[in-house]
Amino acid sequence: DIKLYFSEELLSWFHIHKRTLPWRQNRDPYRVWVSEIMLQQTRVDTVIPYYERFMDRFPTVTALAEAPEAEVLKCWEGLGYYSRARNLQAGAREVVDNYNSVIPDDADAVAGLKGIGPYTRGAVMSIAFNRPEPAVDGNVMRVLSRYFCLEDDIAKPRTRIQLEHLAKSLIPEGAAGDFNQALMELGALVCTPKSPGCLTCPVMVHCQGRLVGKENVLPIKTKA
Ligand code: ADE
Repeated sequence: DIKLYFSEELLSWFHIHKRTLPWRQNRDPYRVWVSEIMLQQTRVDTVIPYYERFMDRFPTVTALAEAPEAEVLKCWEGLGYYSRARNLQAGAREVVDNYNSVIPDDADAVAGLKGIGPYTRGAVMSIAFNRPEPAVDGNVMRVLSRYFCLEDDIAKPRTRIQLEHLAKSLIPEGAAGDFNQALMELGALVCTPKSPGCLTCPVMVHCQGRLVGKENVLPIKTKA
């Protein structure tokens, strides 16, 4: 079964190869949330120093909620996409006002917070709470399209939804957070957009895309 093989090998690989990153120190939902928002449109290397400064200045959801917006934006300066910072603070204020300053262990409640879409919802629920929710971003769509040789257009919302169902079905019992991060890590370190490192890939032998020589044409994506 290539699905079970994928999940088990990927998880083992992650335990050995995962990078030490500041948001992997613990599973504090607030720290996970901030990291996932910063990482959405920005590379890991760029995010690290911003993340450290942000956490020093706003160590808790309460600290962020209570800060003047101008200070939050100042801390975000250079990261771009400033609506991310405004929405993050609005979300923090919702947590303080509606959830007693505690990020809820509840997918629907998390999804209702300002600035949180399907990806961030899945990332927070799985990484912080180990709930079996998929977290499908561009990296994950690329990895799954290649491994399962799926030629559907990943720009289509329907394809994304199918990949979310597939990703969810792959989550090993009790290991949602590690598995989702392993998928992201494989996409970042091995199954890269250009010249994927198939020879060091932990799941190469059953990769259906590589089997038919399509690792460089997958995923299919129409609009830029
Ligand atoms: N990209 C998005 N989320 C990430 C995470 N938790 N670790 C590394 N890269 C990521």
